[in-house]
Amino acid sequence: MRAVVLIGFMGAGKSSVGRALGEQLGWPFEDLDERIERRERRTVPEIFRDSGERTFREAEHAALRELLSELDAGNERVVALGGGAFAQKENARLIEACGVPTVFLDASVDELWRRCQEQALQQRVERPLLGSGESFRELYEARRPHYRKASLKQDTGGKTVAEIAAEVVQALGLGSRSTAPRSEASRSEARSRGRRGQKQ
Ligand code: S3P
Repeated sequence: MRAVVLIGFMGAGKSSVGRALGEQLGWPFEDLDERIERRERRTVPEIFRDSGERTFREAEHAALRELLSELDAGNERVVALGGGAFAQKENARLIEACGVPTVFLDASVDELWRRCQEQALQQRVERPLLGSGESFRELYEARRPHYRKASLKQDTGGKTVAEIAAEVVQALGLGSRSTAPRSEASRSEARSRGRRGQKQ
């Protein structure tokens, strides 16, 4: 199957690496949280605030099932999951059953916390489960054993997004479409995304 699923904790860079990976492979990129928001017609923070985490997890599972059924039809895709998705056993099982490789993007918990704080301040990214530094660390520790079941573990500390994506392409044996620098169109798209407060 010509698809890759990126997993990892909040701040791991799943969306930004996913976009770069999509560009390198010439495959469309999709953020599962955005599919959830389209299906539910409200944002992830709104779902958490108005209906709670359980409703969010149900919506997440339904969106994942829909997405994977599209991949079954042979569509190419780089997919970024939200930080909690792969920690839900039924989601991990679904992905494994499809045979799609999973890539765990990792970094130290201090680095993940620093990135999330920076995104909250600079891009106004709202993460309902961010919590305090202590609860963030506890959640990371609880989820790490799930993430470690991924097909590939990729460290992200001290590397650029393009370097990480290139390492994933190499490790999975996927041919890169191009290593050309990003076009002005994709750079300006990234700038406007930043203004809209989307995850990087
Ligand atoms: C969550 C992470 C978020 C989003 C939701 C729940 C989690 O995605 O799916 O707020 O449980 O860790 P990111 O990992 O992209 O922040």
